[in-house]
Amino acid sequence: MKLMIDDAHIDLIQTIYEYYPVDGVTTNPTILAKSGRNPYEILKEIRAFIGEEAQLHVQAVSREAAGMIEEAHRIREELGENTYVKIPALKEGFKAMKALYAEGIPVTATAVYMPMQAFLAAKCGASYAAPYINRIDNMGYNGIQVAKNIHDLFKNNNLKTEVLAASFKNSQQLLELCEYGIGASTVAPDVMEGLVKNQAVTSAVEDFIKDFEGLTGAGRNMSSC
Ligand code: G3P
Repeated sequence: MKLMIDDAHIDLIQTIYEYYPVDGVTTNPTILAKSGRNPYEILKEIRAFIGEEAQLHVQAVSREAAGMIEEAHRIREELGENTYVKIPALKEGFKAMKALYAEGIPVTATAVYMPMQAFLAAKCGASYAAPYINRIDNMGYNGIQVAKNIHDLFKNNNLKTEVLAASFKNSQQLLELCEYGIGASTVAPDVMEGLVKNQAVTSAVEDFIKDFEGLTGAGRNMSSC
């Protein structure tokens, strides 16, 4: 499972990249709005930091296909080849996806709440479909199950599209999809930091350090004893 950061704060992205194995960055218009800055200014900073090889996902906001396609061209022109254009999985979006696929522009179908949206997006050539786990849960359905169903639906129909699960609120949600072997997930920095936060782990490591220092002296380690 590829693991991406769902955020646009360059300082947070830099920190997460420093410590964790990360495959790219995803954004959406709400995430960009939180910065209050010009979208391309932020996105170019992110691209410069993550490099040309990493995936960057950027959403188009037009309501009609023609506008989405125009945005896709600008997004790719400004941010490079490995930039996936997020297109909402609705009627106008499907039209845009087909045209972008024909041009060789990679698409992430977004705002996916139902498996059939993902199926149609896959048939239109989308590289990823992004179900919103937590938002689906909040509607009274099971977001994890929807993501699993979409994964199965792709496999059973020989579609190359992968699930890019989004909208996580906790580690358990991510773990379940990781165990299931879905293609990719994107999580906010706080969820990423929470993945291995556990008092038992911290305490075990502290005990080892104390025992070692008891043997060799305060501040000593295997390179200085
Ligand atoms: O980009 C879509 C997804 O990341 C939304 O997440 O936390 O706003 O539900 P959230």
